[in-house]
Amino acid sequence: MISKVIFVVGFLISLHCFPSISVRASTQPVFACDATRDPNVVHYGFCNVSLGRESRVADLVRRLTLEQKILFMVNSARNVSRLGIPRYEWWSEALHGVSYIGPGTRFSSLVPGATSFPQVILTAASFNVSLFETIGKVVSTEARAMYNVGLAGLTFWSPNVNIFRDPRWGRGQETPGEDPLLSSKYGSRYVRGLQQADDHADSSRLKVAACCKHYTAYDLDNWKGVDRYHFNAVVTQQDMDDTFQPPFKSCVVDGNVASVMCSYNQVNGKPTCADPELLAGVIRGQWKLNGYIVSDCDSVKVFYDDQHYTKTPEAAAAKAILAGLDLNCGSFLGNHTAAAVKAGLLKESAIDKAVSNNFATLMRLGFFDGDPRKQPYGQLGPKDVCTSGHQELAREAARQGIVLLKNRDGSLPLSPTAIKTLAVIGPNANVTKTMIGNYEGIPCKYTTPLQGLTASVATKYLPGCSNVACATAQVNEAKKIAASADATVLVMGIDQSLEREGFDRVDLLLPGQQPLLITEVAKVAKGPVILVIMSGGGFDVSFAKNNNKISGILWVGYPGEAGGAAIADVIFGYYNPSGKLPMTWYPQSYLENVPMTNMNMRPDPSKGYPGRTYRFYTGKTVYTFGHGLSYSKFSHKLVKAPQLLVFPLDEDHICRYSSDCTSVETIERGCENSAFDVHLRVRNVGSHDGSHTVLLYATPPSVHNSPRKHLVGFEKISLRGKSATMVRFKVDVCKDLSVVDELGSRRVALGQYVLHVGNLKHTLSLRI
Ligand SMILES: *[C@@H]1O[C@H](CO)[C@@H](O)[C@H](O)[C@H]1NC(C)=O
Ligand SMILES: *[C@@H]1O[C@H](CO)[C@@H](O)[C@H](O)[C@H]1NC(C)=O
Ligand SMILES: *[C@@H]1O[C@H](CO)[C@@H](O)[C@H](O)[C@H]1NC(C)=O
Ligand SMILES: *[C@@H]1O[C@H](CO)[C@@H](O)[C@H](O)[C@H]1NC(C)=O
Ligand SMILES: *[C@@H]1O[C@H](CO)[C@@H](O)[C@H](O)[C@H]1NC(C)=O
Repeated sequence: MISKVIFVVGFLISLHCFPSISVRASTQPVFACDATRDPNVVHYGFCNVSLGRESRVADLVRRLTLEQKILFMVNSARNVSRLGIPRYEWWSEALHGVSYIGPGTRFSSLVPGATSFPQVILTAASFNVSLFETIGKVVSTEARAMYNVGLAGLTFWSPNVNIFRDPRWGRGQETPGEDPLLSSKYGSRYVRGLQQADDHADSSRLKVAACCKHYTAYDLDNWKGVDRYHFNAVVTQQDMDDTFQPPFKSCVVDGNVASVMCSYNQVNGKPTCADPELLAGVIRGQWKLNGYIVSDCDSVKVFYDDQHYTKTPEAAAAKAILAGLDLNCGSFLGNHTAAAVKAGLLKESAIDKAVSNNFATLMRLGFFDGDPRKQPYGQLGPKDVCTSGHQELAREAARQGIVLLKNRDGSLPLSPTAIKTLAVIGPNANVTKTMIGNYEGIPCKYTTPLQGLTASVATKYLPGCSNVACATAQVNEAKKIAASADATVLVMGIDQSLEREGFDRVDLLLPGQQPLLITEVAKVAKGPVILVIMSGGGFDVSFAKNNNKISGILWVGYPGEAGGAAIADVIFGYYNPSGKLPMTWYPQSYLENVPMTNMNMRPDPSKGYPGRTYRFYTGKTVYTFGHGLSYSKFSHKLVKAPQLLVFPLDEDHICRYSSDCTSVETIERGCENSAFDVHLRVRNVGSHDGSHTVLLYATPPSVHNSPRKHLVGFEKISLRGKSATMVRFKVDVCKDLSVVDELGSRRVALGQYVLHVGNLKHTLSLRI
């Protein structure tokens, strides 16, 4: 989102230069149609709540001059006092809690902090769709509460649903991982949680407006000198349609998101914010977005200045608007749109269309309905932010996401009564801000890992390195405390200094002397050694995986404000871990033949290119997608699944007469009733109660270069020790089992499929 440092500074300065700074400092919400300030507003159609939104929008547009309309095409929209419209700042963020990134939101003594949930990659690891939505709901409650006292806007540019394509990506932490299905479910459910107003009379009303970003095929920030402002992502139609687009489609179609943000990069030679096929064609045309399309900050300027995509700034403005862009984060459209209209590069009607989308969104938020404190959610205020329930949910989300990667001989959980002293070592052992990742806010409070662990047992703490880069480790001191403690917890990993926006990693190893510190401590430790890795992306931790002295490994993402409490809950067995990796952990050697700039998901054996993610990569992994242990064991038994599926075709379908058909299109008659049941009996065979995610994969027939396997559904359940339940999947052949062909069409492959759950495999064949 934030572009070059210069831009950030530019934004802050311009913000403070606006004359209406006093409005921002007030504790009143920003809204239009305030009859107490301007009695005239009752005569304006756009303020009249008895009229339909469409005619209110049209009324407003009619009243504005071209120059005034253009004020509403940039994120810092200026006031039009003549019509009782105050200035409005479109840019707020709420990736995993209300954030101070973006000038629309700030904290003050009135609301000093907001609940800071785990960074998204960890929440995704919970594989719990109701959790995704519940978090969204809490975040929007806090956002509305802050809006009501003048501290936040109503339009939040979250979530980030880009596919975590390459393990080095600095922003992978913000995403729900590498799988299109998980990302789609995460995006649509989080959006629903943010947006859905409990107003049954008015189903299109918004609690706050969410935004799915960054559209599309954006997942490189700055790798070996290639940056996102100049990067042309060369993407095949097949990868586009079965990997990069699905989360965005789901946001719009299933989540009904109010906004999509186009990215900085080009896709196949065109900047996404200037591509009419991608914006007007796909988002608005095919998916039927009800809302606005916004540019990343400052994408339009970037494709003019950095990519030299047009000769003049006016042409850049016209191209973006004609492509379907409605709002510009930045000021480029504010500066050049009027001239573009005057030069005849676009008609004023194009501006009308864009601002109408923006106004319609504000209408759905109640911005033109008068005092928001007299509307739904008007009673929310500071008392509703950081409630104990919200903070407990932050702890619960972290618990549900934490992944137990290794547990040798059941050495975890540690017994809080048997352990008299615990050595707690590592540069992330007592961190606060590191736990909340990027796009953060000010949290309600922090519980660090050390504080979490110390609540149960006596601890001896040593950072072991002066920072995560760990140029020189305090090996001897660390060995000393580990040798005398009953158990050792090493909290290692990285932070925003080594993976962040604008900064991709170049390798997958724990930095500096971290491996040395871990290995040396493990050699002399008296009790079990637990390695805790705090990070967004995965690591090659083969050295620890294969070291018998290291009894347990946990990945805790960036676990949010209550992360330390959640880590302790898992380590001491107050919570039975249930998280599963939402991305593949590759060995360092994987990078040898994989330039970050190669967007191909599918392998290319002729070039030694191994392909990406569990769907295509078949080489060695350190830990696989979906890996995650429990203190219990779960078994699966297939109860119901078909062995043969017959797909009916029309009389004159070519495949009825030809034996060459390997697949049929998903618009065929056979799709109408193509769903079948898969029922599994899942048993918790251990004695610990616990949650478990059943991951149902399919391996399709190998036609169209299809994935070796892909997730078709997942269901998280909770089971008491020694008990069992039935898990039911409804699998739709056309939606769930289909594959995308080389031209981007969804097709049902004919032949043999293998369904997998854990070690269980079931073969079914599909014929016409
Ligand atoms: C608002 O619109 C309704 C419905 O058209 C109309 O009856 C009413 O007079 C309008 N109110 C004002 C103040 O113009
Ligand atoms: C915006 O508000 C300021 C101060 O309240 C005022 O001076 C200015 O004229 C307004 N701008 C417009 C376009 O109404
Ligand atoms: C999913 O999360 C919700 C919280 O939203 C929780 O109540 C539920 O127990 C979780 N499901 C499982 C199976 O852990
Ligand atoms: C728009 O114009 C303002 C005022 O001249 C300037 O400060 C700003 O940098 C311009 N924005 C862009 C994106 O060129
Ligand atoms: C751990 O971090 C907390 C929060 O920053 C701080 O108050 C505390 O002093 C630290 N503890 C130690 C032992 O350094």
